[in-house]
Amino acid sequence: MQKRLKVGVLYSRVRVEEKWIFGAMEKRGVDYERLDDRVISFDLDNPAPWLAFDAVLERSISYTNGLYSVMMLNAFGVPTVNTVEVAKICGDKLVTSAMLARAGVPQPHNMAAFTPEAALEVIEAIGYPVVLKPVVGSWGRLLAKINDRDAAEAVLEHKATLGSVQHSVFYIQEYIKKPGRDIRAFVIGDRVPVAIYRKSEHWITNTARGGEGETCPITPEMESLCLQAAKAVGGGVLAVDLVEHPEKGLLVNEVNHTMEFHTTQPISGVDIADEIVNYVIEVAKTGK
Ligand SMILES: Nc1ncnc2c1ncn2[C@@H]1O[C@H](COP(=O)(O)OP(=O)(O)O)[C@@H](O)[C@H]1O
Ligand SMILES: [Mg+2]
Repeated sequence: MQKRLKVGVLYSRVRVEEKWIFGAMEKRGVDYERLDDRVISFDLDNPAPWLAFDAVLERSISYTNGLYSVMMLNAFGVPTVNTVEVAKICGDKLVTSAMLARAGVPQPHNMAAFTPEAALEVIEAIGYPVVLKPVVGSWGRLLAKINDRDAAEAVLEHKATLGSVQHSVFYIQEYIKKPGRDIRAFVIGDRVPVAIYRKSEHWITNTARGGEGETCPITPEMESLCLQAAKAVGGGVLAVDLVEHPEKGLLVNEVNHTMEFHTTQPISGVDIADEIVNYVIEVAKTGK
């Protein structure tokens, strides 16, 4: 008889997405275990308890907890969705940009510098407004749109004085005059099953910041761009943020590796949780 597959779901807090994922696991009759990242521990000399899993789906809210967990799981030979390589790339916006650049995927003009002085030179060269982002972060937090030199000097000094080590890398982007929205597209393996517009009066359109979702038709261009972006970061279950640049057209702004979909699933009617579970089962079966 064939061995029954066992899947782990690593999480920090049961959000609506995790409820839907657990529901999809149950509907499909998958033998799964809930792994709370506040409770688990890893013994590097004793991987045995973890070897019971054919695959682990990582849904941690904490980037660090998720990253280190999949790092150890992958070291033990346990496949994860997503892999540690993908988590390392997608968890850091500058690394993502570097991988997109390497693959020739169209993206906003990005620059990086390591001191406030060098960053100010970069900002002046790009021209105002510019956007300054922490390399690690989400939900639109700590993004700064800088409209003039006074603001640039103030933000750079604040970051240099008050920021953690992460803020010593200055990731600077051209500001894109997008049409009051951006696009959030989902990639599951080699498919792009759904995308939404995120509309907002504010230039930061994250739904976590009040952006409203609306269905977005997936054009062949969009699909191909998302698949290129997903491939550039190593593939898996991903959410690609696209911006519509008035001259350059569609650009990849970032790629997320543990995305939320509380807005997309209800408005699109696409069962993203079930799509993810389906993908994880394939990984559990094939080991990759
Ligand atoms: N360079 C930019 N020009 C215009 N809008 C931007 C730019 N960068 C980000 N945004 C807006 O801010 C939102 C959040 O930026 P993003 O880089 O995706 O950070 P986060 O990881 O916090 O979601 C985007 O969805 C977009 O609406
Ligand atoms: Mg984003």
